[in-house]
Amino acid sequence: MNTPTPIWDGFVRGYHWLQAGSIVGLWYTGTEGLMDWHFAIAYLMLALLLSRLIWGVIGSETARFRHFIHSPSAVLDYLRSLHGKNTPPAQHLGHNPAGGYMVLMFFVLLSVQLTTGLFANDDIISEGPLAMYVSSNTSSYMTYIHAINFNLLLAAIGVHLAAILLYLIKKENLIKPMLSGRKVISETVTPKLVNGLVGWVIFAVIGGVIYIYWAKDIVAYLL
Ligand code: HEM
Ligand code: HEM
Repeated sequence: MNTPTPIWDGFVRGYHWLQAGSIVGLWYTGTEGLMDWHFAIAYLMLALLLSRLIWGVIGSETARFRHFIHSPSAVLDYLRSLHGKNTPPAQHLGHNPAGGYMVLMFFVLLSVQLTTGLFANDDIISEGPLAMYVSSNTSSYMTYIHAINFNLLLAAIGVHLAAILLYLIKKENLIKPMLSGRKVISETVTPKLVNGLVGWVIFAVIGGVIYIYWAKDIVAYLL
């Protein structure tokens, strides 16, 4: 009963921590103007996000959009259940109803950040691989959105970390399961997990295509 149950597959966990590291790297390289590194890390992040979105349809139950996107009323019920009690929040096999929307928001913000980056330019010599297909006005506008959207992303990360801390205070450690994949749950049903290796194969295929078309020269230059 009280033995840890697998809830996060290896792909979701690897995705999460590589994503967190990539964003720190993209923040630093973007603001410092280290554009070759910025592009290389951005291509990694692009391959990660595209594979995670596919995993949201065909991956483990806890990774699927259908499983973690609930109705707004379920979110309100969940938030009400958190309020004013000294007990730990209700357990969920995967993201809770409020967390599901947070995850969705991250995917939207990351998609905007990556898409605008592909059309952005730094007014010096670096431009995203799709910037040449649009006018310089459009590219400048994309660059502007790229900078604004990053602030939204930072705000979302702030809320994310605050929520994780709040759960810790409420005596629910969400970080350990995101590391080990397992969580002690009181429910008898266990989520259906797909082997994370399948996710990594999808990542390798998408990453390979991005590498061949966009990243090869930059990686060769950096190494
Ligand atoms: C750049 C920083 C970060 C971003 C963009 C980010 C984004 C995300 C996303 C998108 C998910 C959903 C994962 C999925 O379903 O694939 C998630 C889950 C999670 N993240 Fe982060 N994260 C960041 C940093 C962190 C850090 C530093 C921690 C730990 C201190 C953390 C702890 C967690 C935990 C515990 C979950 C699972 C939440 C749950 O049980 O529902 N994250 N994060
Ligand atoms: C999640 C992915 C990404 C993040 C978090 C990110 C973050 C950033 C940040 C913080 C900056 C500095 C903005 C400023 O000066 O205020 C920046 C600039 C830039 N990024 Fe990204 N970026 C991402 C993806 C991309 C991609 C995919 C490309 C193109 C392949 C790209 C190309 C650029 C360019 C050309 C600039 C320079 C813009 C300027 O000088 O104003 N970025 N990025």
